[in-house]
Amino acid sequence: MENEDHGISQKNYALFCDFLKDSCGVDLKDNRAYLVSSRLSPLLRGYGCMNLNEFIEKVLFSNDSFLRKIVVEAMVTHETKWFRDGYPFEFLVDTMIPEIKDKSREVKIWSAGCSMGQEPYSIAMAILRNSCRLKGLPLNQVRIFATDLSMSALNFAREGVFCTTDLSRGLSKEYMDRFFSPVGALSSEYRICDDVKSMVCFRHHNLIKTGSRPFMGKCDAIYCRNVMIYFDLTTKLKVLNYLKSCLKTDGYLLLGSSEFVPKEISGMDMMRYSNGVVYKKIA
Ligand SMILES: C[S@@+](CC[C@H](N)C(=O)[O-])C[C@H]1O[C@@H](n2cnc3c(N)ncnc32)[C@H](O)[C@@H]1O
Repeated sequence: MENEDHGISQKNYALFCDFLKDSCGVDLKDNRAYLVSSRLSPLLRGYGCMNLNEFIEKVLFSNDSFLRKIVVEAMVTHETKWFRDGYPFEFLVDTMIPEIKDKSREVKIWSAGCSMGQEPYSIAMAILRNSCRLKGLPLNQVRIFATDLSMSALNFAREGVFCTTDLSRGLSKEYMDRFFSPVGALSSEYRICDDVKSMVCFRHHNLIKTGSRPFMGKCDAIYCRNVMIYFDLTTKLKVLNYLKSCLKTDGYLLLGSSEFVPKEISGMDMMRYSNGVVYKKIA
């Protein structure tokens, strides 16, 4: 019997890693069988499989594209929160918007890998909250595109209804009172208001499919935060070059607080801001 790790044979683990990397860029490396097991085990029974090897073989060899989507969604991490790390949203209202509004009649921002909507909705709320600084730039000229490969995360985000536990992760009382209302008199769920919702356009998009764009034209800013931390260097470089091609000159790229643009990518100037860094496309 071939060696197994967490109920997965070495051969199936290697094949599954290749499948996941080809599907979404996530690189599991050699030692994440525990993760595959914990994410996929809950799906076995629904597909009539007795064990993980049987299930993984079904995913890999049955050509069931729906099953493949479900499995990729189960493997990606949706961890997010409101106004994550603070500085990307302060930079938006302090520097980016004032700079853009002097040059352009519209502002286009892309939240790539938006998970359940907290990131693009935080961008929209920060803009609305600071709309006095937007004088001369009507709010209907601000477009926020939010994309993810996970349809379940996008459906949740589009709905715009969050429970109190979700809301407690990074949202201040001021924002809560201003932009959310209870779904029902006794409900512990809150709906984001239409003014915020109407600024965000959610679309399905896989970042490693670099041949297409989820919108027309180029962006003033791209938030692609905590998405590429799971990619290997080759995939990261491919996606970063693609994101750069989607940015206007002088546009900004904001990565997660532990992420950096590698030296192989030229024409992106690193700027320090508050307790983080942002990148500006200079060429
Ligand atoms: C950890 S969450 C980060 C959410 C948000 N950007 C933040 O920083 O809070 C990563 C998101 O990226 C998405 N994702 C992973 N790989 C992707 C890909 N290849 N294309 C598009 N989205 C992807 C996942 O579905 C997940 O929702």
